[in-house]
Amino acid sequence: MTLQSFGVIGLAVMGENIALNVERNGFPIAVYNRSREKTDAFMAERAPGRNVKAAFNLEDFVASLERPRKILVMVQAGKPVDAVIAQLKPLLDEGDIIIDGGNSWFEDTDRRTQELEPAGLRFLGMGVSGGEEGALNGPSLMPGGTESSYEYLAPIFTKIAAQVDDGPCVTYVGPGGAGHYVKMVHNGIEYGDMQLIAEAYDLLKSVAGLDHNQLHEVFTEWNTTDELNSFLIEITANIFPYLDPGTKKPLVELIVDAAGQKGTGRWTVQTALELGVAIPTITAAVNARIMSSIRTERIAASKELNGPGGKYQGDTKEFVNMVRDALYCSKICSYAQGMALLSAASKTYNWNLNLGELARIWKGGCIIRAGFLNKIKKAFSENAALPNLLLAPEFKQTILDRQTAWREVIMTAAKLGIPVPAFSASLDYFDSYRRDRLPQNLTQAQRDYFGAHTYQRTDKEGTFHTEWVPITEAKK
Ligand code: 6PG
Repeated sequence: MTLQSFGVIGLAVMGENIALNVERNGFPIAVYNRSREKTDAFMAERAPGRNVKAAFNLEDFVASLERPRKILVMVQAGKPVDAVIAQLKPLLDEGDIIIDGGNSWFEDTDRRTQELEPAGLRFLGMGVSGGEEGALNGPSLMPGGTESSYEYLAPIFTKIAAQVDDGPCVTYVGPGGAGHYVKMVHNGIEYGDMQLIAEAYDLLKSVAGLDHNQLHEVFTEWNTTDELNSFLIEITANIFPYLDPGTKKPLVELIVDAAGQKGTGRWTVQTALELGVAIPTITAAVNARIMSSIRTERIAASKELNGPGGKYQGDTKEFVNMVRDALYCSKICSYAQGMALLSAASKTYNWNLNLGELARIWKGGCIIRAGFLNKIKKAFSENAALPNLLLAPEFKQTILDRQTAWREVIMTAAKLGIPVPAFSASLDYFDSYRRDRLPQNLTQAQRDYFGAHTYQRTDKEGTFHTEWVPITEAKK
């Protein structure tokens, strides 16, 4: 019996498309899905003419693979991954490789690595981004684990990944859960991008009064610029003119304004808090989804809580350009936060992440793919120890040149009662980062006052505590 080169477990959208991608690139595949119907449907609809072997139990699946076996698990993150591993483990031989391609929590990946590798198996935790289309035609892949295990997969992954001008969108990310951590931060950045675009849309529609054709034109134009050209801007441009076939109204306006989330954005915020890294734009994006989801409560509140309203009174074209600048400045801040988080995680967990290389593998295939990642790659390639993206020459000057517009947009939004949480959080991040003195000297005084937490002084070395007393007492 001829053996297959690569196995995929889990034939949901991502699994079946990535399986076909692997096969199309010259690697015969074996597939297995827990419920037989999915496998039957896959074999009938998508596999004809291709080198695919279907298995209906894990024993047959494992037996159909050449050694060392390379098995990509594409099942829901969490318990299902553990369940598949537990079933696979007794069937595998030394050196076989399991790759978890879901959005797994990175500590689970660390734990699984520690459970599997001493038993002679190899395990990789791999972030896969790009949705259905990316999985089929070229995703961005973020594999983490033992580097020597990755070497077995590199010939396959470099072929199936999206290809950009400077190579395939895959690299060995780092040990243990590093790949899944990087994918999680990618998703946090994705949340930030999506929220910033939503705020720009709100401003252009509610404040500048643009209709859906005009929104389409503006986003189409933005997508031609060096700065904003990206997958998310492109699909946004496509969304606006799409009319609901039944009502002939723009479909986007018929969609309930309550955003779902599967958890990777929230995890990004949680780990940032753990590591003590401020990621206010991404946090604002997660909060915005939460606020949007209390829709019934908001609708009730809208009848009780008045605020200002109205439209922008100045030149519309000028306002559109200011929103574009605000969007770009905010986006830079959001990526600066994501990269700062990766840098801190890399130090904490000894991952030795290469931030320039990560920016490179996000240039194609993934949801946040964008022309501007080239600039990020360049910034970290030129200075791997760059403390913050805001200090990279190309970004620094851009923000300095555009901050007036950015501030004007946020002031206009505040005056007219339009929430722009991610735009504002980004500007606050910029202003906090660039100020040499923040008001937390007062926070320290308060902490020392009520809890004797001590403080340091600007004028001399040492740790101090004061017996603070009300001024009336002090004068006695
Ligand atoms: C990707 C995406 C993907 C993610 C979805 C949904 O990179 O292909 O990040 O992995 O699961 O975008 O995420 P939410 O449901 O949390 O919005």
